[in-house]
Amino acid sequence: MEPLVVAEHLYKTYRDGTRAVVDVSFRAGRGVTVLMGPNGSGKTTTLSMIAGALKPSRGRVLICGYDLWGDGWYRARECIGYAPQKMPFVERLTVLENLVWIGLMRGLSLGEARRRARRLLEEVGLPDVGGKLVGRLSGGMRRRLTIAASLVGDPRVMILDEPTSGLDPGARESLWRIIRGFSGERAVVVSTHIPGEAEEYADKVLVFHRGRLVAEGPPGELIARYAPESLVEVEGVIPPAMGSVGWRIVEATGDRLVVASRSPDSDLPRLIEWIVSSGGRVRVARVRRPGLREVYFALTGEALEEGG
Ligand SMILES: Nc1ncnc2c1ncn2[C@@H]1O[C@H](COP(=O)(O)OP(=O)(O)O)[C@@H](O)[C@H]1O
Ligand SMILES: [Mg+2]
Repeated sequence: MEPLVVAEHLYKTYRDGTRAVVDVSFRAGRGVTVLMGPNGSGKTTTLSMIAGALKPSRGRVLICGYDLWGDGWYRARECIGYAPQKMPFVERLTVLENLVWIGLMRGLSLGEARRRARRLLEEVGLPDVGGKLVGRLSGGMRRRLTIAASLVGDPRVMILDEPTSGLDPGARESLWRIIRGFSGERAVVVSTHIPGEAEEYADKVLVFHRGRLVAEGPPGELIARYAPESLVEVEGVIPPAMGSVGWRIVEATGDRLVVASRSPDSDLPRLIEWIVSSGGRVRVARVRRPGLREVYFALTGEALEEGG
């Protein structure tokens, strides 16, 4: 079966000459595909090109098998639900009125638009705010409403641009659960600059760096391939000679020792044993496992920060 989203050799050069996206190709099927990269790496530009909102300078996009920027544009658009980072709601209408309005624009009857709006509000955990003005919603509620709005047309492809940015950790977690809940039969394509989110919630991650796609795969595979080493850290009294045991030492002082290891579960006890039998003492020992943050650093030499 053809994947729901196919992007082939996408380029975007803005009018001022900025090369925002350079030769990006990927496929996304059912489940959650996450574009991960820092600010300015080309995520928004890529998402708006596959959502039908920004014309690529070059390249091709197939959505549900239809050529989005060619003769399949109408069918392709029917397949897409797109939530840009700032959804243009009408602030002085209520939550329900906004959703109904979107439904009417999508060609639903008034009755059907109302039924769908009510059901979606329940599905995103906002059953009681239908009568509230959009301008009065909290940040987290507004993001939930944005998800609901992207689902009004019952799309098979959902495209969400940084749906969790600016939210506190609790609100982020519940929003990701909602997003994952919609991913069973759909292709959900989401962006984030937070590696921990991509690691926890993505089925597949696309790593963006300066407008290019530099790696892709399930989080576990990316970690195993690009950042396989854990750090084993021990604090206490460290004997001076590390001997020829074969440890790759990252840091060694009199009271702290850090070694890199691909099998930390067996290396940690070995290291402790070695220290104790060499006359040292262990006060604290821990393993730091690598994640997508380390993958990004290994691929680009640059840090991708956790902050929201
Ligand atoms: N309308 C625009 N005109 C010129 N440059 C732009 C425009 N929009 C984005 N850019 C630039 O394109 C690059 C990619 O931006 P963007 O796709 O928004 O990245 P991200 O979503 O990963 O932060 C950045 O250098 C950004 O400054
Ligand atoms: Mg962006």
